[in-house]
Amino acid sequence: MSAAAWSFAAGPARLPDAVLARARDELFARGTDGACVFERPFSADAFRATLAHARTRLAELLVLPANYRILFMAGGAMQHFSLLPMNLLGPTRRAAYADSGYWSRRAVDEGWKQAAVSVVAQPPAGAPAAPEILPGAGWPIPADAAYCHITPNETADGVAYAALPDTGAVPLVADCTSSFLAAPLDVARFGLIYAGAQKNIGPAGLSVVVVREDLLERASPDLPAPFSYAVQAAQDSCVNTPPTAAIHVAGLVFDWIADAGGLAAMAAANRAKAARLYAAIDGSDGFYTAPVRRDCRSTVNVRFHLADSVQDAVFLAEAERHGLFHLRGHPRLGGLRASLYNAMPMAGVDALTGFMADFMLRRG
Ligand SMILES: Cc1ncc(COP(=O)(O)O)c(C=O)c1O
Repeated sequence: MSAAAWSFAAGPARLPDAVLARARDELFARGTDGACVFERPFSADAFRATLAHARTRLAELLVLPANYRILFMAGGAMQHFSLLPMNLLGPTRRAAYADSGYWSRRAVDEGWKQAAVSVVAQPPAGAPAAPEILPGAGWPIPADAAYCHITPNETADGVAYAALPDTGAVPLVADCTSSFLAAPLDVARFGLIYAGAQKNIGPAGLSVVVVREDLLERASPDLPAPFSYAVQAAQDSCVNTPPTAAIHVAGLVFDWIADAGGLAAMAAANRAKAARLYAAIDGSDGFYTAPVRRDCRSTVNVRFHLADSVQDAVFLAEAERHGLFHLRGHPRLGGLRASLYNAMPMAGVDALTGFMADFMLRRG
């Protein structure tokens, strides 16, 4: 595997080298039934063992409380923008959402299609370049809201919650797509967590749901079976063909995380990588600037700007010549962004900061 090129894509993102090497070896290793791990029928014992392994490993990593269930479902995080209200809305059909940036706004837009949405927090007006997340205490959450939805890490905006909000008796629901497994998570604080796989879990096409058992009772029996969290839980995520290959690779990623020391080790490594990159930005005398307020900066999606945005295209082209790819900011927000998920080693960050220092010397 080449170490000369680094992908800083927001997703699908780099997978750990050890996982790719193992998957490569398994690709052509057919078992006595003529199927390699990617070809196993989902009803076969061998695949059920793969599924059980992934679930058990993930439960260990999360220190999952006994009253929570893990679902592996086909599709990305956006599916859950709709499945969530479909499954969780009570008779009031009301839900609370915190608007912290691009992805939470998209969740709100989908939420409105089924729910009466109360937006309980928003970045201050006039601060589009430096979105801030309001503290959770004091959010005007309606008492009859079925849930309160947050996006703890805004992938596009590069904004992260410094602390979880207190939503009282209203279950906290989180789109953890870009923060899942990047740090320890106090699962008991949440009613439901969902995440698309393509950042820290595995290949795209899979999503993970972690749900408190009592919330499964809210789903109407009339829901289409594959879309029902309750039916998926009852049928071990195998209502229909699950994304078997992606679940297998996810199990390998969970093993890799456990072998590397678990979520606390991931968090420490992610903090160190982000600190090095933000230090390069903050120490550049304004040549590079980070638009996000320090106390809500993401450790995994680092946004930055050049003082002269006309030079963005030159920066990106030169970066690619140095083996540094996918650094363009989200199309809606512009600028530059480096995503540093679990599988990005410090060597990748060093390659980027080295290039940034050199670019500044030549162009500053
Ligand atoms: C926080 C967040 N939510 C939702 C999504 C949408 O995910 P998907 O494309 O898997 O539907 C993304 C994608 O990057 C994301 O970062």
